[in-house]
Amino acid sequence: MAFREYRIGCVMFGVALSLSMFITIILPGIDISSMSSTKIALEKQLTYGWETGFNYYDPFLQGKDKPIKVTLTKDPKTGAAIDKMNAYVFPPGTHFPDGLTHDNILGGNVQVLSMSLGEINSASEEQGGVFTVDESEDGTPYIEYATITRGWTVDATLKAADHQSLAGSGKTMFVREGCWWCHTLLPEQTQDWQTFGRPPMVGDFNGESPTTFGSDRKAPDLLHVGSRNSSREWLTMHFFNPRLVQPHSIMPRYDYLWGKTDADGKTIDLAAWDVHYLAYAKGDEVYPPIVPTPAPDSEARMLIDFILNLK
Ligand code: HEC
Repeated sequence: MAFREYRIGCVMFGVALSLSMFITIILPGIDISSMSSTKIALEKQLTYGWETGFNYYDPFLQGKDKPIKVTLTKDPKTGAAIDKMNAYVFPPGTHFPDGLTHDNILGGNVQVLSMSLGEINSASEEQGGVFTVDESEDGTPYIEYATITRGWTVDATLKAADHQSLAGSGKTMFVREGCWWCHTLLPEQTQDWQTFGRPPMVGDFNGESPTTFGSDRKAPDLLHVGSRNSSREWLTMHFFNPRLVQPHSIMPRYDYLWGKTDADGKTIDLAAWDVHYLAYAKGDEVYPPIVPTPAPDSEARMLIDFILNLK
């Protein structure tokens, strides 16, 4: 009997903990699992692939194991002209986003249509394949496994593409480099709407992990940045050294994401670049040094593709 108080305390603590877990985890879980994916959620899943944070298949966050988003204006199978559209290419072995492996998280009719019209159940990670996002007549979005439905193979689609975006790998850069310490991807239901665009809806997040909302905001929200700032040149300069375009910027340099060589295979000498840049900043040189063009497989290119894809 002597320890009766402790026992009551322990039980009360247990009840309080269980209740709070129920309210913060189970209830929102029920809410989210009854939510149908929006078109945005489907596009995000297919752009970013599976899990972008630290994971077993990309332990050093180098942008591995990610799909390639392509723009098409001709049919990869027949070569015939088609209306401009996007397709998502998963080379064999690339892990699928959660919506493809656990189709119930697509929700409601999106799941039904993705399985019937979209035939997503015939896709496998070992074989890879090409996916598209379509809409039924009543406007319900669904995922289509174009390798079966249209006969688009990985190789033919990459070859037919007008443009290839590494936005999926770029999201890994965004997470790894901690851009979210300063930037949010979450305009709020306030005057934010006017400056940064439409706030996201709950159905926009099905199957996305992590969501990169940001910690708190010291810099502009980036959820729709590609719609207001779509200049690859400006972004290239700004990432190499933000002070080139915003003299008092607090944003760090990301020049190391360029790697050793530029797009022409020339060695990048950051120390020599700095010497010229400092002379320019002091007024001894009239022009700033030229910013190297990122190589097609550089981390800088991945990051810029990710930012431009935030429409
Ligand atoms: C220390 C805070 C900080 C960090 C970390 C940071 N930024 Fe920024 N960023 C800023 C500020 C402040 C601005 C506003 C313009 C300026 O001052 O350069 C900005 C501007 C931008 C813009 C232009 C926004 C617009 O509205 O046109 C983009 C794009 C951007 N940052 C991307 C990134 C990415 C990607 C990363 C990570 C690799 C990153 N930033 C890391 C502070 C930061």
